[in-house]
Amino acid sequence: MISEHGGSDSGPAIRHDFSSNASPLGAPPALLRAVLAADRGSYPDPDYQRLREHLGSAESVHAARVLPASGGAEAIRRLSLAALLSGLRAVWVPHPGFGDYAAAALALGLQVQRYASVPALCAALQEPALVWVCEPCNPTGDSLSRPDWLALDAALQASASVLAVDCAYEPLRLDGSSQMPASLAEQAWRLICPNKALSLTGVRAAYLLAPASGRLADCATRLAPSWVLSSEGVNLLMHWHSAETRHHLHQVWQQVIAWRASQIALLAELGWQQRPSCTNFWLAQPSCQADWLVRLRERGVKLRDATSFALPGWVRLSTQSPQAQQALRLAIKELQT
Ligand SMILES: Cc1ncc(COP(=O)(O)O)c(C=O)c1O
Repeated sequence: MISEHGGSDSGPAIRHDFSSNASPLGAPPALLRAVLAADRGSYPDPDYQRLREHLGSAESVHAARVLPASGGAEAIRRLSLAALLSGLRAVWVPHPGFGDYAAAALALGLQVQRYASVPALCAALQEPALVWVCEPCNPTGDSLSRPDWLALDAALQASASVLAVDCAYEPLRLDGSSQMPASLAEQAWRLICPNKALSLTGVRAAYLLAPASGRLADCATRLAPSWVLSSEGVNLLMHWHSAETRHHLHQVWQQVIAWRASQIALLAELGWQQRPSCTNFWLAQPSCQADWLVRLRERGVKLRDATSFALPGWVRLSTQSPQAQQALRLAIKELQT
């Protein structure tokens, strides 16, 4: 395995998956129907012209700035390669943070620098680099403040660095709103990965929004394999901004906020330490024995071990249904007896 992830693994079926950050509430019906009805008998348009125009209009950018990708993971690899080919030699990644930024950079021989906070990043950023921000951040569920963004903007300009903002969990933000200034968003790469909020992580589809001006865009476009996005992926992205999908997401937020509250209460009752988060997932430190994660997994309940985020003894877990929460509670009680 190249980098560790939550969700499906090579073991037996997972019955209650707290380890993936995907929405627990399924896909919007019309979008799902469109994905299932995708034309598998012919290639998609290799230029994805209609899709890029559609997404560009929804995102208020020119279609040329929309780069379809076969998932966020593919987009991270491609942007890292484009950074290398454009002459950048270093990549800054959040720590703790999603492992693929560093994995992509390391595979290309780029120098990986880790930052624990934006002030620390700004103090250290001297040379031109590709800088990843995950907003909101996986695994912490933290979000940058306005002063963070302003300081980052100044540091990026001073060092002639390129900003890439991974917005994978923006559609699953449950509290507050992004404080990223619109002017900075225009100058950044933005990665949009709808499959988590849509509960369709098996459909590999995402897109990058290129900065209004600047480096890498031509290169990142030319680096895409032909037909980078499947027909299913095209249909998913075509429905991402529909009124029906937006309505579904509003319902998801309301339900997940209520379920999150009961799950936090349950874990508090079990004596777990928990970190605040603005998303549907958060970090927690259980009061359990060392091998309990493996034993829970044997019982079909999976949590994301946070050791690979350099947080041994911690887990990341996502909000799940009351039934799944009860299954987790029962399994833990069983392990404790
Ligand atoms: C922060 C973040 N970005 C990107 C991805 C990649 O998502 P996908 O390749 O499914 O679009 C993930 C997946 O877990 C993630 O957590």
